[in-house]
Amino acid sequence: MCGIVGYLGPKPALPVVVEGLKRLEYRGYDSAGVAVVRDGRLGVHKSAGRIHVLEQSLDLNAEEGHLAIAHTRWATHGAPNDVNAHPHIDASGRIALVHNGIIENYQALRKYLTQQGITLVSETDTECLVQMIGLRYRGDIEQAVREVLLDIDGTYGIAVICKDEPDVLVAARKGSPLIVGVGKDEFILASDASAILAHTSHVIYLSDGEIVRITPQGVRTTTLNALPVTKELEEIEWTLEQIELGGHEHYMAKEIFEQPEALRNCMRGRVDGKHGTVHLGGLAEHWRELTRARRIVLTGCGTAWHAALVGEYLFEELARVPTETEYASEFRYRNPIIEDGTVVVAISQSGETLDTYAALREAKQRGALSLGVVNVVGSTIARETDAGVYLHVGPEIGVASTKAFSGQVTVMAMIAAALGRRKHMSQPSMELFLSALSEVPDKMQRILEQADLCREVAQRFHERDNWLYLGRGYNYPVALEGALKLKEISYIHAEGLPAAEVKHGPLALIEEGMPVVFIAPNGFQYDKIVSNIMEVKSRGGHVIAVATEGNREIARLAEQVIYVPDIIDPLQPLLTVVPLQLIAFHAAVLRGCNVDKPRNLAKSVTVE
Ligand code: AGP
Ligand code: GLU
Repeated sequence: MCGIVGYLGPKPALPVVVEGLKRLEYRGYDSAGVAVVRDGRLGVHKSAGRIHVLEQSLDLNAEEGHLAIAHTRWATHGAPNDVNAHPHIDASGRIALVHNGIIENYQALRKYLTQQGITLVSETDTECLVQMIGLRYRGDIEQAVREVLLDIDGTYGIAVICKDEPDVLVAARKGSPLIVGVGKDEFILASDASAILAHTSHVIYLSDGEIVRITPQGVRTTTLNALPVTKELEEIEWTLEQIELGGHEHYMAKEIFEQPEALRNCMRGRVDGKHGTVHLGGLAEHWRELTRARRIVLTGCGTAWHAALVGEYLFEELARVPTETEYASEFRYRNPIIEDGTVVVAISQSGETLDTYAALREAKQRGALSLGVVNVVGSTIARETDAGVYLHVGPEIGVASTKAFSGQVTVMAMIAAALGRRKHMSQPSMELFLSALSEVPDKMQRILEQADLCREVAQRFHERDNWLYLGRGYNYPVALEGALKLKEISYIHAEGLPAAEVKHGPLALIEEGMPVVFIAPNGFQYDKIVSNIMEVKSRGGHVIAVATEGNREIARLAEQVIYVPDIIDPLQPLLTVVPLQLIAFHAAVLRGCNVDKPRNLAKSVTVE
């Protein structure tokens, strides 16, 4: 997905929107551009590549305009190049538009525009939008945008300006996030809070189907049919330094190392280990329905799906409720069966992943109680669910999700325990579980102190092009997550599997020196995984083991061992994932990859 920034106010607009783009670059970044209205002219600058490439082409002091829009692109239609970069302008050259999303009926629009004698200069779907607005423009840019959007299929978050209306910034959304920051006599429009926080913490969240007209007199929100909408001014709960790097070279490193504190924040005011209780205010009105749940469906994408799979094991063990994990992109199109008593939980760090949002809506329409396990407050998924629990792990900027995974697992552990306690879990069992959960941050800290050992593993194997990750039980999802981390930031091919599955085919992959990571803490199935280690070793595989402190036996079997503190099986993922995050991070650095902005990826995927 991309990043959108807009500005209307007394300051020179260009430096504001360029700075805002930099804070959004993690969202999608194959090209970037800005448009500014100044002295009745529309200045547009855009280029392929990172924002710094664009910045070099700008004289940030020259443009005195007070109205501007800007965009970082994550291409869906048309190669990442200068022509396809946003903003796009209409044939008259007076209207500029930036867009996040996909215009699904763009082919029909292209045909219509060509018939109207309009020459399209780019390959994008977006250009059709601005050309249609240009055709409909009769002196009121908001009205022209409104008319065109009524004929649009697909998803959009857009910002539009017109050189003939230097005091008007128009924006609209359907499926892609947009927030309006309301400062002192100034307005900052952006895709997420990180581009707004430097200016104000007072915001208005746009909802699907809404359009805003921003002028020096204020913000007017209406539906596409021009019905007025009253919007509350809300407060962003994050601070600017939470968005900053905090002395780290990469956001991913910052977010890995802040996991202990992030989980303390996640559990604060919620877990009372002493009295064996869990307080989840967001679910307070739904426990009766939850306690009667006959089935739980956990849905998400990528890392969130891996966290969901841990959740499946947690809900079935602690609450004894049949639970299944569904890829959101599959669930939404599978005509899912939702009977009475079904609870669907959408798991999402950004709260904007389109597949997860669509799966949630599909489940809601069929009568499911919908919950959200989301990090970004006020995000689309968070606002769509009947109830939910925020992660409270702070903003996650690195594309590779780390503390959000830990937060998602922690939240699901809290929900599963609270539900289990309402069904059959005894008070002593609850106290034991919550006491173990409360110890996780300190135990995580001890693992982070072994970061050098993880770098040594990466140092030794980062040039190998194929890795395997194997785990059993609660650590099978961790194997999947470890493989994804390595793949997405170091571009090494890796596969995660249930350890026992290696015998049913993947063992053929093992060749001399191939790195195979076994997540092998003490506990249920440990002896079985040792057998799997032997199967791999006997075929030349190099075993890297994540094991429990004090286990000396495994040091004789593995090339390298990273030890984690002992903990009950259901909470092992919170510890065993940490070495895998660090190994992936160091492998990416050693391979010279862009750790925070890996190629082809975006932080939040708001397209299908
Ligand atoms: C994980 O490291 C990836 N960035 C990606 O798989 C991500 O987890 C997925 O896109 C879901 O994002 P969400 O949690 O914001 O919904
Ligand atoms: N579909 C548009 C394009 O490909 C917008 C992509 C985005 O969200 O950045 O240009």
